[in-house]
Amino acid sequence: MTNEGFSVAPGGALNGAIRVPGDKSISHRSIMLGAIAEGVTKVRGFLEAEDALATLAAFRAMGVKIERSDSGELTIYGVGKRGLKGAKEPLYLGNSGTSMRLLSGLLAGQNFSSVLTGDESLSKRPMSRVTDPLALMGAVIGTSEQGTSPLFIEDMPILKGISYEMPMASAQVKSCLLLAGLYAEGETCVVEPAPTRDHTERMLEGFGYSVKREGRRVCLSGGGKLKGTEIDVPADISSAAFFMVGASIAQDSDVLLKHVGINPTRTGIIDILRLMGGNITLSNEQIVGGEPVADIRIKSAELKGIDIPESLVPLAIDEFPVLFVAAACAKGQTVLTGAEELRVKESDRIQAMADGLVKLGINATATDDGMVIQGGSLSGGEVDSHGDHRIAMAFSIAALRATGEIKINDCENVNTSFPEFLSLASSLGLEIKDSIDVS
Ligand code: S3P
Repeated sequence: MTNEGFSVAPGGALNGAIRVPGDKSISHRSIMLGAIAEGVTKVRGFLEAEDALATLAAFRAMGVKIERSDSGELTIYGVGKRGLKGAKEPLYLGNSGTSMRLLSGLLAGQNFSSVLTGDESLSKRPMSRVTDPLALMGAVIGTSEQGTSPLFIEDMPILKGISYEMPMASAQVKSCLLLAGLYAEGETCVVEPAPTRDHTERMLEGFGYSVKREGRRVCLSGGGKLKGTEIDVPADISSAAFFMVGASIAQDSDVLLKHVGINPTRTGIIDILRLMGGNITLSNEQIVGGEPVADIRIKSAELKGIDIPESLVPLAIDEFPVLFVAAACAKGQTVLTGAEELRVKESDRIQAMADGLVKLGINATATDDGMVIQGGSLSGGEVDSHGDHRIAMAFSIAALRATGEIKINDCENVNTSFPEFLSLASSLGLEIKDSIDVS
């Protein structure tokens, strides 16, 4: 079996100014809402990575015309809420949980049936968290016995609105139900146990669709229309996070990350790094198309271990792999609790990171809902990404403080969210060799 791995030389510094690619969550939503809007939507800064491209391909397969200009700007010719056509083949969504969960809501109330499939990792991820509440709305969706994909969505032209208290803090579940609510009679309300990313709500408003928000409760009524608009996708804070931690842990580093989305439901990484003693400043703050953006400057800092406040967990949910690396380089102990959701991401991120850190000589103990990490000295060694893009990138960053080379197996999935990772890392000073191994 071929296995594209990374080897990363130890030590070094990160310096320079870059713009990381577009936000993945916003890119997915721009296609979904642009497709069901009336009129044309233009999208600048769309993330051209496998996950968002899987969403784009799914809508093309459902009859939506989407053009790309030489500069990368997308033009989506919206077909209106009832204009999608059933795809001839199952919709293959690769590694992308966001595509599958949001699409299951959007397709539950159509007058055609759909089948959603994914890769090995996606086929193991829990889908009953969306299919159960969708069934309460009247949707008929078949899953495996374990509640996993393929999802067989039957045609059901009218759903009924529900009020749903989510058992977990999940923006994917919330967004799925709001998208289904567009096709439901009456009002659909979702109550979240803790705030999660609100890009769907903001973008619906940008498309002229009314959304009511009161504290943790979000409601919308079916029957309205979306009007095509212009979307400027900010740089993804989840991709920026690798260099935020990298510049913090490496000596003599100073990095400027430009035009990064700083939606308050996504900035847990900044708050946690600051609590650890990180040196982070924001400038050029502005609102672009309903989303706040800023330039973020990070300099080397002596990090210290902390107890991570549980309220910050959903606001940094994708950043824990690299935050564990920050904790491994910090002075003292870091404790994460309340993060059991990490066990059902693209990999079991608690186990994958604890195993890798232990291999690199760090005292890290996985717990059911988090990890306890004693800061220490990272050795070189060989670790496994478990096919998870964020684990691969997190261990690449760890090399900045390692005493020997770090070799990471199975890194192809970096292309799902951040295909430019190697070139941007190298422009800042981190030398990663991309090698093909035979194992
Ligand atoms: C996402 C929500 C989060 C996040 C994922 C993208 C989204 O998942 O981990 O990468 O775009 O809504 P959960 O909502 O399941 O926590």
